[in-house]
Amino acid sequence: MNKAKIFKGGTAVITGAGSGIGEGLARVAAAIGMNVVLADVAADRIAQLAAEIEATGAAALPVVTDVTDIAALERLADAAYDRFGDVRLVVNNAGIETIGFSWDIPDATWDRLLSINVRGVVHGSRIFARHMLERGTPGYIANVASIGALGMMPTQAPYMMSKHAVLSFTECLYLEMQLKNAPIHVSAVLPAQVATRIFEDAPADRQSDFVERQRAMMHGMISQMGLTPVEAGEVILDGIASGAFWVSTHPETTAQMARARSDYLAALAMPALADQAKALFQ
Ligand SMILES: NC(=O)c1ccc[n+]([C@@H]2O[C@H](COP(=O)([O-])OP(=O)(O)OC[C@H]3O[C@@H](n4cnc5c(N)ncnc54)[C@H](O)[C@@H]3O)[C@@H](O)[C@H]2O)c1
Repeated sequence: MNKAKIFKGGTAVITGAGSGIGEGLARVAAAIGMNVVLADVAADRIAQLAAEIEATGAAALPVVTDVTDIAALERLADAAYDRFGDVRLVVNNAGIETIGFSWDIPDATWDRLLSINVRGVVHGSRIFARHMLERGTPGYIANVASIGALGMMPTQAPYMMSKHAVLSFTECLYLEMQLKNAPIHVSAVLPAQVATRIFEDAPADRQSDFVERQRAMMHGMISQMGLTPVEAGEVILDGIASGAFWVSTHPETTAQMARARSDYLAALAMPALADQAKALFQ
């Protein structure tokens, strides 16, 4: 699928655009001729990225946005439509990680993670869906879950449940658009390993050696084995442009995880760690 054919000249709104996958997506979208609206809490990083993108001749609008704040998401949509007139693609990508045993992770960290990873995606989708439906022009809503949405991982409970929730919400949203015969494509993005700062930035309250080891291991794994954010951005934008619901950065791993999940559910088996995951806890 030629993503430029679908998206060139359109506008992309990307949350969490100040780093990692969001930044990669923004660079790729701008390179194929899209206007990009960069939303993040990291004001400096989106200002810098906007300047770099504008220097290539593309249009970039940084909008400081906390995705946990519905009013801020409304302002983001208003800013995008005011500046560019239409939005072809919204990627609800902002998300954070945390590591620790469920009972040790502080209340505030639980709430913050669920608020960013779940409420941010849900309300971002709802707000842009309303704008797109009102205009009736074809649009794309892509919600970034994770390969984790197909699995289970102890010591990452808030993150894992948030990604299962994003996938479930996105499936429902897809079906709702079908019921309405709406020209809105809905995709669930399931990245696997992409080299980003997500584990470096993971809230580290109540640190313990165990938590720090886990975090260092996860960070090392995505840094050494992950795609670069721009590589991930290329694959993800191709997938969204193709109209696929399931968009993966690592299709073989995704297929493997999906099979394992469906076997587990069909057997109503006991929860168990996948073989690759066991290594993380030895
Ligand atoms: N990196 C991976 O291997 C991987 C794998 C699976 C899924 N993902 C998902 O991809 C998405 C992007 O993650 P990443 O790895 O690029 O992480 P990252 O930490 O590099 O980037 C996340 C961005 O989100 C921003 N952000 C945090 N809280 C915010 C808020 N309240 N409002 C707006 N922006 C906020 C951060 O400032 C940061 O710029 C996340 O949803 C993550 O769960 C990543």
